Amino acid sequence: MRLVAAELVDSRQILPGQWLQSFHAPELATGSRAGQFVHVRTGDYSGLVLRRPFSINTADPATGIITLHFRTVGRGTEWLTRVREGERLDMLGPLGRPFEVDPRSRHLLLIAGGLGMAGVRMLADEALRDGRQVTILFGALGAGHVYPSSLLPDEVEYVVATDDGSLGHHGLVTELVLEYEAWADQAFACGPHPMLARLAQLATGRRERLGVAKLGRKRGAGKADPLGSTAARRKAFLQVSMEQTMGCAVGACLGCTVIGVEGPLRVCREGPVFAAEEIAWPAL
Ligand code: FES
Repeated sequence: MRLVAAELVDSRQILPGQWLQSFHAPELATGSRAGQFVHVRTGDYSGLVLRRPFSINTADPATGIITLHFRTVGRGTEWLTRVREGERLDMLGPLGRPFEVDPRSRHLLLIAGGLGMAGVRMLADEALRDGRQVTILFGALGAGHVYPSSLLPDEVEYVVATDDGSLGHHGLVTELVLEYEAWADQAFACGPHPMLARLAQLATGRRERLGVAKLGRKRGAGKADPLGSTAARRKAFLQVSMEQTMGCAVGACLGCTVIGVEGPLRVCREGPVFAAEEIAWPAL
C-alpha cells in the first residue's frame, strides 16, 4: 500500500452519470492486481472528510496510467468530476485482496451488473495477457446504460442483457449464466448483492447440472485449504467482488462488514473479493 499523488490526465462521461478518469500513477499501475481498489482523498475545499473507495478499473504498467470508473452518487463523486486535468489527487492503494485465478483455468467468465463492470474490468486485461479466453456477461437497465464495447479489448466476447430488452437478452444477466457454465473454468462477478446471491446459488448446483461425479477427497490429500485463504479462493468456481460503503478502508472501523459463514468479514481487508462460499447469502 502506498500514498500516491495521482495526476488526472483524462476525464470523460461514458454513460449518463458515469465517468471514466485516467490518472498518471506509476506506483499504482505497476503494483495493482485486478479486484483491488484505491481510497481517494477529496479536496480540502470540498468540505468532505472521508476518502472515497474506487475499484481500479484498469492499470497499465507501460504508461503508468490507472483508470477509475464511477457513478456520481453524492458530493464526493460530484467533486471528482470537477477535478481538472493536471491536478493531483491523494490516492492510497492498492488496497484489498484481488481475484485469484487458478493457473489451470483457460476460460474465464466475468459477470457484471451496471457499475460492477469497474470491479471486473481489469481482470479481463490480466487474463488475456496470460493467454486465457474471456467472456463478459453484462447486465443493465436498458441500452442507454450499457458499458461501451469500444472500451473493452477486442479479444473479449461481450454478451449483454437488458431489463427492458432494448439491447441483447431481454431479462437478467444471471439468466445467461447457464449457457456458459460448462465452458467456464471459473467465474468472477461484481454487481448488486441480489445478483451475486443468485450467482452463488447457481454455482452451488453447477457440478450436479454438468454431471460431475462427487469423488470426495483423495486419501492422503491432506487438510482442506482454510476458507478465505488464497489457496481456497484460487480453487473456487465463483469469486465475487462486494461493493460496500466504507469508512477507513484499512480494517479499523468495521464499517464495511458483511456476514460470512464463519462470522463477520471486512470488505476492505478480507475482501473486496471473496469466494462465493465464504458469504452467508441469506443474511445479506
Ligand atoms: S472501511 Fe473501516 S474496516 Fe472496512
